[in-house]
Amino acid sequence: MKVNYLFEQKGDLELKVTTFYGLEEVLAKELHRLGGKNIEPFTRGVSVTGDLGFVYKANLCLHTALKVIIPIGSFIAANDDELYQQVGTIEWERFLNTDQSFMIESVLNTELYNHSLFVSQKIKDAIADRFRRIQGKRPSVDLIRPDLRIYARVYNDEVSLYIDSSGEPLYKRGYRAEQNLAPLKEVLAAGLVSLSGWEPHQLLIDGMCGSGTIAIEAALLANKIPPGYFRQDFGFMRWQNFDEQLYDTILENALNRISNREVEIIGNEIDAFTVKKAVANVGHAKVEDVVKIQHGDFFDIQPTRKGGALIINPPYGERLPVHEITGLYKEIGNKLKKDFSGFNAWIITSNPEAIKAIGLRSSRKIKIYNGSLECRFLKYEMYQGSKRDQYTQPKE
Ligand SMILES: C[S@@+](CC[C@H](N)C(=O)[O-])C[C@H]1O[C@@H](n2cnc3c(N)ncnc32)[C@H](O)[C@@H]1O
Repeated sequence: MKVNYLFEQKGDLELKVTTFYGLEEVLAKELHRLGGKNIEPFTRGVSVTGDLGFVYKANLCLHTALKVIIPIGSFIAANDDELYQQVGTIEWERFLNTDQSFMIESVLNTELYNHSLFVSQKIKDAIADRFRRIQGKRPSVDLIRPDLRIYARVYNDEVSLYIDSSGEPLYKRGYRAEQNLAPLKEVLAAGLVSLSGWEPHQLLIDGMCGSGTIAIEAALLANKIPPGYFRQDFGFMRWQNFDEQLYDTILENALNRISNREVEIIGNEIDAFTVKKAVANVGHAKVEDVVKIQHGDFFDIQPTRKGGALIINPPYGERLPVHEITGLYKEIGNKLKKDFSGFNAWIITSNPEAIKAIGLRSSRKIKIYNGSLECRFLKYEMYQGSKRDQYTQPKE
């Protein structure tokens, strides 16, 4: 097996950046803007090449990435003995010393093993036993904040190993101390804002904002605030080759690019307790100047501008009777027709019956996953007046 001992390597690295299903193209565009090379989307991720500085920048600045991982080698293993044996041939002492800690996370797409924990355990044993054999002691395992996070993917009998540069997944931004019952992951919220095509000079309303994630992520995007700014920790910071000076320079450059654009984003929420959480989160993210959280019913909103974008993530109705949830979505459709002309309205939901109840024709329908829930992100273009009026009215 050819192993990529990346801590000793200079120059470009081959990276895989993972994301949610449906956000691959958005992520590819972000990587392009960030200066990545050889960008190629695949399902739930994008391949890209870049140097160590790019790894730092990607973790710090990408809005729609979950993890930045670096392949170190792959091999065929027909059973757990072969897996153990192959992993033990890698010179792990070139990645890690015995005073450090590590952990394994495995994802399986195979019939060879039933449990990812079993595979992780085998890989851990192979690494620990190799250290014992060669150095007489072994690094410890730390499942919370390891020095080296190893990511294993098993596809049939092919095992691919990666080093995870991110540490905790990148949706854990660090600004959201307060959560409501069903918050969107920050990465998904950023993806929805990007997919919506909203431009920062337009008004953006989230009519059912919960803990405020969509509004906050829109503010970060609009003013180019690096979403990693709020985190104290990335996995690469504990690598043996961590270049703190390089990281500081990259952070400084990213902070210098923050703009002071005037942006108007409104997050509206009916539940008073949840409103308090959203306000706190907006404060933690330091975007109070552009995000206004208001307490009220979506159905009472009267937009202050003639057009813009509306993004809503209404309840999906898993805990409600069918007629209640279809009733809610029917009212949403009526509200859009009545008060949101000139807006591009976007709704994300996992509920197909609810979609029918909206009673409007969507102009785009994007398949996307919210956790394990298959959803549709639907666009409704609310013309001023009816579409027919636009054509039948006399030309100016
Ligand atoms: C699925 S949650 C939204 C989660 C949000 N995107 C987040 O990341 O936290 C739906 C939210 O809609 C709110 N809601 C339900 N009906 C509403 C209404 N008529 N007006 C305003 N908010 C409403 C609920 O209180 C709940 O917080």
